Amino acid sequence: MQHDKVLILDFGSQYTQLIARRVRELNIYSEIHPFNKIPEDLASYKSVILSGSPNSVRGEDALHPNLDGIRGVKPMLAVCYGAQYLAHFSGGNVAPSDTREYGRANLSFIKNDEEFFANINEGSQVWMSHSDTIKELPTNGVLIASTKDVTNAAYRIEGEATYAIQFHPEVYHSTDGKQLLENFLVKIAGVNQDWTPDSFVEETVEAIQEKVGNDKVVLGLSGGVDSTVAAVLLNKAIGKNLYCIFVNNGLLRKNEFQSVLNQYEGMGLNVKGVDASERFLAALAGLEDPELKRKAIGKTFIEVFDDEAHKLTDVKWLAQGTIYPDVIESVSATGGPSATIKSHHNVGGLPDFMKLKIVEPLRAIFKDEVRRVGATLGIDPELLGRHPFPGPGLGIRILGDITAEKVRILQEVDAIFINGLKEWGLYDKVWQAGAMLLPVNSVGVMGDERTYEKCVALRAVESTDGMTADWVNLPYEFLQKTSNEIINKVKGVNRVVYDISSKPPATIEWE
Ligand code: XMP
Repeated sequence: MQHDKVLILDFGSQYTQLIARRVRELNIYSEIHPFNKIPEDLASYKSVILSGSPNSVRGEDALHPNLDGIRGVKPMLAVCYGAQYLAHFSGGNVAPSDTREYGRANLSFIKNDEEFFANINEGSQVWMSHSDTIKELPTNGVLIASTKDVTNAAYRIEGEATYAIQFHPEVYHSTDGKQLLENFLVKIAGVNQDWTPDSFVEETVEAIQEKVGNDKVVLGLSGGVDSTVAAVLLNKAIGKNLYCIFVNNGLLRKNEFQSVLNQYEGMGLNVKGVDASERFLAALAGLEDPELKRKAIGKTFIEVFDDEAHKLTDVKWLAQGTIYPDVIESVSATGGPSATIKSHHNVGGLPDFMKLKIVEPLRAIFKDEVRRVGATLGIDPELLGRHPFPGPGLGIRILGDITAEKVRILQEVDAIFINGLKEWGLYDKVWQAGAMLLPVNSVGVMGDERTYEKCVALRAVESTDGMTADWVNLPYEFLQKTSNEIINKVKGVNRVVYDISSKPPATIEWE
């Protein structure tokens, strides 16, 4: 089954991915492509959206794609920079604004456009973020809405399904933004709303079957959401030909290896649990530098995985939980498209399993869509709602060298903290939480005895993607109870602190 597709041409706006997500929330499949790499199969897209940009259309290195095959041919919505671009090149005039236009504004309709503004009320709040403004509309432009400071806030081109808006419909603060996108895409462009998690599962399963046939596929499970959803999808498509490997690096949370392994087996996955704790600890012995620790963990993982993959015969494919943000080619602020995709050039030096053909069932979807697909597949909501956990695990939360005893201490502390968050109904309000074991001892007093023991730091942050984060204002009563419980129950710890640093300038992990 072929879905209607919407092409989003990216001019480098920080909000481009949000446009794609809003469109997909309307059950419409959308793809982001750089403005200067217009897909050759343009005919397969039903409509086109031009994104915003940090650039000015008047700049020397302005981004000026040739839209001949698009404008007037496909229904097109031009957003912010896109709206200015259309005006600048089609007989209008764009100039610097007298006042900077950032933030809230309210729409006044100039011409009643029943389809475009359907179910949107006069005065609707929109979000502006631009320093140039459209002084004169392009040839055949018809003004349809203004705001207090921006006369040409929305226009269309007479005789074409071409619309342009100066504000950002994709951001949360544009109250009716999603409605506006729906009006344009459904009422004006005639796009079908037929892309759902169910249809994604059905099509992906078929596509996997077609791609890998009867070949064997190997996949590394991490206990995280992406690899788990990828595994369940592949399992649905090829069943026992999927060989999953779940490695215990000895740096997982308390009891996590066994409980996640049981969960995987309960889901019917063909999974092999490999307890390589000792091997990882040996590789880490004496290492204090965070980068050296990370490298040792990464290298050991590859060795363990390669050993296990070699025990399987005739494996042709390596499956990965890569998701859409990892594969979108981003447009740099200077205009040159920069590929974010990493490719392996030096194939000769790679372990054997990395020379396998790659299958990535989630490469077209965003993280929140992975969760929705996971729910459709019947995966336990608790597993889908798990906080992110770094690949090197507790290894980058034990500052300094790592020993089995330190891992034990941190696992106990972490378990008390995480279970407490769950008991207090705070877990789902926090994006990520964990504990750090600090390389300092401090003096305390327990009973009448002097102690000289370890200090742990608790960290809980809110974030959307881990790129920026802020510490969570956890209730004092919760922190008090957690601190007491940790010091009373975990031998070797006599002090608990709470990390109140944001990212930037700090990072989420301490190493
Ligand atoms: P930072 O510490 O850079 O972390 O603010 C941002 C997010 O990335 C996770 N993280 C990692 N994940 N391997 C991973 O798989 C790593 O080496 C790694 N380092 C950090 C971190 O947990 C947070 O969610």
